[in-house]
Amino acid sequence: MTQVHTAANDAAEDTVTLIDNRTGKTFTYPVLNGTVGPSVIDIRNLYRDTGMFTYDPGYTSTGSCDSRITYIDGDQGILLHRGYTITDLAEKSDFMEVCYLLLHGELPNVAEKNKFVRTISRHTMVHEKLRGFYDGFRNDAHPMAILCGVTGALAAFYHDSTDIRDPQQRLIASHRLIAKMPTISAMAYKFSKGEPFVYPRNDLSYAENFLHMLFAVPAEPYHVNPAMAKAMDRLFILHADHEQNASTSTVRIAGSSHANPFACIAAGIASLWGPAHGGANEAVLKMLEQIGSPDRIPEFIARAKDPADPFRLMGFGHRVYKNYDPRAAVMSKSCHEVLDIVGVTNEPLLKIAQELERIALEDEYFVDRKLFPNVDFYSGITLRAMGFPTSMFTVLFALARTVGWIAQWKEMIEDPVQKIGRPRQLYSGATQRVYVPLDER
Ligand code: SDX
Repeated sequence: MTQVHTAANDAAEDTVTLIDNRTGKTFTYPVLNGTVGPSVIDIRNLYRDTGMFTYDPGYTSTGSCDSRITYIDGDQGILLHRGYTITDLAEKSDFMEVCYLLLHGELPNVAEKNKFVRTISRHTMVHEKLRGFYDGFRNDAHPMAILCGVTGALAAFYHDSTDIRDPQQRLIASHRLIAKMPTISAMAYKFSKGEPFVYPRNDLSYAENFLHMLFAVPAEPYHVNPAMAKAMDRLFILHADHEQNASTSTVRIAGSSHANPFACIAAGIASLWGPAHGGANEAVLKMLEQIGSPDRIPEFIARAKDPADPFRLMGFGHRVYKNYDPRAAVMSKSCHEVLDIVGVTNEPLLKIAQELERIALEDEYFVDRKLFPNVDFYSGITLRAMGFPTSMFTVLFALARTVGWIAQWKEMIEDPVQKIGRPRQLYSGATQRVYVPLDER
C-alpha cells in the first residue's frame, strides 16, 4: 500500500485536556494540524480511556479522515482541488485535466494528459449485455433509479477490476467508471425518450461525446455546439468533488468494508439523489415553477422562514459555506452564457431566480443564518436551457461527481490508518426486560 502521508501523521505537538467533572479525572488528547483549515482532536482512544463516545449527529464537528484532495473554507467561500481554486480550474482547465488532478494530485503535462484522455476514451463503451438491463425498466423510470442499478451491475461485468488490494485494478476500475458514466447516463436518457442508444465516439472530447450520445439520432448528422460543450465541461468541473459531503462519505464508508468500487459508486449515487443534496438542482427548478411569478416570491420566502412549514428554499444554504458558494458564482455566469447561446433572452424562471436571490440576500432570516445560493441554484436553469429534462439534472451531477467519489475512495483504500467505518451511538431504548408469551400479553 502506498503511504498517504500528511502533517497529521507526524507526532502531534499540541494537546487538549478533558476534565470529567463527575470524577475529577482528566484525559489528554493530541491535536493534529493539517496544512490549512481547522485542526482536529485525535479522540481515537477516548472510548478506551473514558468509556464514553462523542455525540455528533450529522457530523457537524467531526473529521472522518485525513485527506489531501479538496479543501473548503466555508466562511471565506474558498474551494481548492489539490490546492488550485475552483475559479482557476473552471476558467483555465478542462474536465479531463481536473480528473487527472483529483486522481493523481498533480496537473498533467502534455504527454500525461494525452495518455489519460486516450485511456478514458478507450473505456467509454459498455458491454453489449448491459443494454438489456434498460429493457427491464419502464420507460418512465427515473434516470437516477436506472443509474443506481446499472452502475452497481457493472461489477457483474468487470471481475478483473474488483480486487481493491491491487493498485492496477483500482486504477482500471477508476478509469472505467469515469469513462462509462456518460455512456450509462446518456443511455438512461435515450431509453426514457424511446430513442435508440448512440454509441460513444472516441474522436470527440468527453463533453462533446456526452452531448452527442444524448442528442444525436441515426436519422441525421448531429453537430455538437462547441460553446455548449464548453459549458457542459465547465459544469462537470464545478461538480467534480466537494470534500466529505454526504454522498462522498457514503462512498468512503461503503468502501471501508472493501466492497468493490462499482458497488461503492452506486451507493454514492443513491445518497446524492436526495433533494437535500444532489437532488436539489431538480428541486430548485420545481420550486421556481411552483413560485410561477416574481410577485409570489414573498409568499414562498415567508413559508421558508416558518419553522412549522417544512418548505425550504431549494438551492439555498449549505452545511459548510456560510459565504457565497464559489461554484454558484461561476454557475451563474455559465447560466447566462448558455441562455445567450440558445437565444433565450427572457427566461421567466431566470427572472424569478434572480429576484428570489436578491430578496433572500436582503432578508435578515437568510442573512443571519448565512444562507446563500449554492451550486444547485443556477445549475437547474442552465441544464433546462441546454435541453435536459429535470429528471436528468441529478444524473449530470452524479456523472461529474464520479471522479471525486473515486478519488476519495482510492485515497481511503490507500490510507494506512484506514479501518472499517463503524460509528457507535447514544442508546435511549428499553433496558433488558423479560419476554412475555403472546397469550399472557
Ligand atoms: C449540495 O455537503 C456538500 O458539500 C453538498 C454539495 C456538494 O457539492 O456535495 O455542496 C451539494 O448538496 C448543496 C446543498 C443542496 N441542498 C439544497 O439546496 C436544499 C436546501 N438547503 C437545506 O436543505 C440546507 O441548507 C442544507 C441541507 C443544504 C444544509 O443543512 P444544514 O447545514 O443542516 O443547515 P440547517 O438545517 O442546520 O439550517 C440552519 C438554519 C435552520 O434554521 P434554524 O433552526 O436556525 O431556525 O437555516 C435554516 C434551517 O431551518 N435553513 C433554511 C434553508 N437551509 C437552512 N431555511 C430555508 N431555506 C433553506 N434552504
